[in-house]
Amino acid sequence: MQHTFLMVKPDGVRRQLIGNIVRRFENRGFVLVGAKMMTISREQAERHYGQHKEKPFFGELVDFITSGPVFAMIWRGDNLIEVSRIMMGKTNPLEAAPGTIRGDFATYVGENVIHGSDSPESAERELENFFSTDELLAAGVLSSATDRIVINHV
Ligand code: GTP
Ligand code: MG
Repeated sequence: MQHTFLMVKPDGVRRQLIGNIVRRFENRGFVLVGAKMMTISREQAERHYGQHKEKPFFGELVDFITSGPVFAMIWRGDNLIEVSRIMMGKTNPLEAAPGTIRGDFATYVGENVIHGSDSPESAERELENFFSTDELLAAGVLSSATDRIVINHV
């Protein structure tokens, strides 16, 4: 069992794709354990995409992700990080297979509808960046005993 962070990006919210995207993960058997609509600050966006700081598209990336509300979610399920990345499809929607979220809903790499953590380490970092301690506790992601975010469960 795993927890992960998924987020409908501003283009997906604007296009009213939240329900469709949530339904795909629920249909697959995953469980939504926390969610909120929020507009992220530039500081939060720069932290989220810190690994891309040197890339030529970094400014555009931060402009886009802060351009309107996102729908931030915490999900739980078996092999969730790997399976959610498959369900999202390739980063460039033009290379994403039909049937995947990006393959069905997007055409431009800069606006590709959904974000999902790519590893347990990313999931921990990203959940901490988007959710408060109280929200992580309520979602069952933060262990009150150890004060640590739990990504991988037995
Ligand atoms: P995220 O879930 O958003 O992290 O996507 P990813 O893990 O599939 O891709 P990656 O982390 O490598 O890149 C982060 C984001 O940068 C992508 O989702 C794209 O929206 C954006 N991106 C990547 N390459 C380009 C590019 O060439 N131009 C622009 N404008 N954006 C890009
Ligand atoms: Mg990424």
